[in-house]
Amino acid sequence: MTQDELKKDVGWAALKYIKPGSIVGIGTGSTISYFIDALATIKNRIKGTVSSSNRSSEKLKSLNISVIYCNEIDSLDIYVDSADEIDKYMNMIKGGGGALTQEKIISCIAETFICIVDQSKFVKVLGKFPLPVEVIPMASNYVARELIKLGGIPKHRKNLITDNGNIILDVHNLSITNPVELENSINKIAGVVTVGLFANRSADIAIIGTQKGIKIKHKSYFLK
Ligand code: A5P
Repeated sequence: MTQDELKKDVGWAALKYIKPGSIVGIGTGSTISYFIDALATIKNRIKGTVSSSNRSSEKLKSLNISVIYCNEIDSLDIYVDSADEIDKYMNMIKGGGGALTQEKIISCIAETFICIVDQSKFVKVLGKFPLPVEVIPMASNYVARELIKLGGIPKHRKNLITDNGNIILDVHNLSITNPVELENSINKIAGVVTVGLFANRSADIAIIGTQKGIKIKHKSYFLK
């Protein structure tokens, strides 16, 4: 199976976790695009969605799936998103599509975070994929200097302004052995909006598409 076919498989596999009458948090990216296609088939059975990007909102609206503004909800049962990398403790690197801040906000509101990935995203140690950091534009040089002190090599992502009007620094050369500590250190730098390290709010369930079929992993299994 191709990577795209695996992405499609996990997108459809996530459908069985959606309860009737619920509001569904929606991530961003090519894998989530397949999930949105699947969700369209049950759109009359859900209350609506909360979207993490303009890109996902546009697709949801084009399929007549209702999109609710994040501040209008008090709670959220479920958030479905992909990742650029995920480890066995369910820590993730996200933000390859530039929507990390809204993704983190919605994932923090949600009771359950389901991460859907093809097997290439499942890694032993996070960091081969450059770590995205959303930064207020006037702080970019300062933040870059601070990221170098943490051992990274930050590169300004060209031609991208986030939905929030900010820039992204992609940090290369990291081997992330303590994701919570690194997430907290980067978030403390003035001018950082969000780092795309999801360790304080890791996923609860991972649906992984492999050549041998779909594998489901629960965080509780690894925390035993
Ligand atoms: C978007 O900002 C990201 O966090 C995506 O969830 C992640 O990059 C995975 O994207 P793909 O499904 O396109 O690989």
